[in-house]
Amino acid sequence: MTAQNIAAADGTGDARLDGADDAGDDRLDGDVLLRATDVTKHYLLRADGLARRRRVLRAVDGVSLEVRAGETLGIVGESGCGKSTLGRCLVRLTELTGGRVDFDGQDISTLSMRRLRPVRPGMQLVFQDPQASLNPRRRAGDIVAEPLLVHRYGDGAAVRRRVAELFDVVGLAAGHLDRYPHEFSGGQRQRIGIARALATNPKLIVADEPVSALDVSIQAQVLNLFADLQEEFALTYVFIAHDLGVVRHVSDRIAVMYLGEIVELAETEALYEAPHHPYTQALLSAVPDIDDGDAVADGPPRERIVLTGEVPNPVDKPTGCPFRTRCPYARELCALERPRLTPTGNGRRTACHYPLTTA
Ligand SMILES: Nc1ncnc2c1ncn2[C@@H]1O[C@H](COP(=O)(O)OP(=O)(O)O)[C@@H](O)[C@H]1O
Ligand SMILES: [Mg+2]
Repeated sequence: MTAQNIAAADGTGDARLDGADDAGDDRLDGDVLLRATDVTKHYLLRADGLARRRRVLRAVDGVSLEVRAGETLGIVGESGCGKSTLGRCLVRLTELTGGRVDFDGQDISTLSMRRLRPVRPGMQLVFQDPQASLNPRRRAGDIVAEPLLVHRYGDGAAVRRRVAELFDVVGLAAGHLDRYPHEFSGGQRQRIGIARALATNPKLIVADEPVSALDVSIQAQVLNLFADLQEEFALTYVFIAHDLGVVRHVSDRIAVMYLGEIVELAETEALYEAPHHPYTQALLSAVPDIDDGDAVADGPPRERIVLTGEVPNPVDKPTGCPFRTRCPYARELCALERPRLTPTGNGRRTACHYPLTTA
């Protein structure tokens, strides 16, 4: 097939070049709480003067992953690669363009809004910027109570008791129930967001860059809170971040995203020790070695690769491998064929024609 052919096939939008489910020889142990199968989210952009046809922005472009009950799956990638969109697809805060999402044994991607309603309390989202995601005109106690009222938790007294309990659980003072968001610090505001997410006793929390907007000194406290809550309430996390520094400390496994696709998915330590995808290698090159003085510094010296050029526009994705335009190892095949996410050893999957398995 010529490059032109592939571009044409690719241009049809949902013509998938790669398979849906690569589980095959690396079956997961443990129960799978969440499974995404070939999820796509394409935005139709408004036609403007130059482009007569409406153009398609492929924000999420064929993502398959599983999240085991009780684990934390980190999702990393540069800004704009589709992390937030994927996160919203996973809890169906946005409609999928294609593919499906199974949560707790049920396909939630096709449920009617009415049938989705009883499922919603089980999956919650924590947002990046607590300042922007909390209603500034409502008191903290009311913000946390809102999901309880929506899901008819109980009478007024029961709701008040539950809110007080949640304040305690996330380390907020009971005396602060009546304060407004602006009266709290950034870290405290994120605690309000977490309390609100916990209110309905979810099984799954998708945390979308929950510490990115916080001072570095506060980040560790909030990350520790996430860890404590996971243990206490047997929570399952999808934890989104734009750099590998933060997710490393909280994730059991990590999915690396590039231009709407997962390019590598691996156990955290294995990924840091030896990335199999050139993009992962590039991201790791950007994380300082000294970090906290352990494994990274002790591991074999890493080859540094510095990313050149811009991330391509997701409206005009490169043919073949999405990373090939910035990849130092790209060869002819990379422009011709889109690499599938395939097992490259130790339960890891990599979407690369020439994975760095011998590096
Ligand atoms: N509602 C929308 N309409 C059109 N494009 C969108 C919309 N939301 C996100 N995008 C685009 O989708 C891509 C992925 O965005 P996003 O999921 O926010 O990435 P990330 O969270 O990784 O920064 C970006 O190119 C962004 O501009
Ligand atoms: Mg985002």
